[in-house]
Amino acid sequence: MIINMNVSIKEKTQIENSHPSQLYETDHSNEYIIEVQDLTKSFNGLKAVDGISLKIRKGELFSLLGPNGAGKSTTIRMLTTVLKPSNGDARITEYSLIKEKSKIKPLIGVCPQENVVFEALTAEDNVEFVGRMHGMNPADLKERTKFLLEKMNIAGRKKATKTFSGGMKRRLNLVMSLIHQPQILFLDEPSAGLDPQARRLVWDFIKELKNTGMTIVLTTHDMIEADALSDHIAIMDQGKIIAFGTLDELKSGSSNGNILELSFSTRKALIKAKNTLTQMKNVKSVKEMQNNKLTISFSGGIETFKQEILPNVDSFKSLHFREDSLEDIFLKLTGRGLRD
Ligand SMILES: Nc1ncnc2c1ncn2[C@@H]1O[C@H](COP(=O)(O)OP(=O)(O)O)[C@@H](O)[C@H]1O
Ligand SMILES: [Mg+2]
Repeated sequence: MIINMNVSIKEKTQIENSHPSQLYETDHSNEYIIEVQDLTKSFNGLKAVDGISLKIRKGELFSLLGPNGAGKSTTIRMLTTVLKPSNGDARITEYSLIKEKSKIKPLIGVCPQENVVFEALTAEDNVEFVGRMHGMNPADLKERTKFLLEKMNIAGRKKATKTFSGGMKRRLNLVMSLIHQPQILFLDEPSAGLDPQARRLVWDFIKELKNTGMTIVLTTHDMIEADALSDHIAIMDQGKIIAFGTLDELKSGSSNGNILELSFSTRKALIKAKNTLTQMKNVKSVKEMQNNKLTISFSGGIETFKQEILPNVDSFKSLHFREDSLEDIFLKLTGRGLRD
């Protein structure tokens, strides 16, 4: 028996090795579980989503990162069949969003930006209601409901969910979105309104889900969240995808230098430094932050710092060098901060 198994594995390997191109073709066709083509949504002439194209790999965590109003929720609402696109299409698994939306619905789970819970029901009843709609077997449904609510720290509460805090409702909504083990899970701002502890819990949970092979598409305006969770990030602004890649690719693509943060004791000192820095050739951008802090992006490395910046900027309180963050990348691309 064991010998037979070894032989068959060896044979299989030889077969695979002898047809590399064929294998690659097969893998390639399965690689992208979502392909978005020129997707557009207009509201009274305003293009909330303006011809975006994207490919999302099976089993990855894909983030749409952008400021409020960028078009993230509208994109999610189209991809989850809630909203009809004005133009374009997407292939989700093997189905066309435009032509086969009823085939897509059972394969996906959605946690919308605004919580949708039945406030008169308990958490269990909310989840089980959704599970029954998906036709789940009652015994499996009970077991999975208990397991997931325990994970989210909201199990065993017998009260109606109208007594729940916003953060508890958010976590309940998350459980409701994935009770039926969807192939693809869409999370629109999953951690919005959560305290840091609950946010950590949700992040760990999302990572665990990804490890089970689920494809996860999330939106966020929080670069730390995108940074912590994503395999690929699409940065969205004013309805368009303005950058795409892994975190490392985004950082190396944007690398026009170093980031220096200077803190000042007074705003007067900050303004003086800002005026001086803005005129320097090697300084790409100077952005005023909270707490009398300037973020300076410059080229030329330590030499620029020693020869130009240091001799000309005095009276700063502290300084800090760092790598580009997603916030810096967004700033370079748009001239605005993510949180502006
Ligand atoms: N149903 C709607 N009717 C009219 N305008 C809308 C509607 N939904 C969204 N918008 C507009 O589309 C733009 C993108 O919104 P949205 O997709 O919610 O952005 P995000 O989720 O990135 O914050 C915004 O300007 C918003 O006001
Ligand atoms: Mg939104």
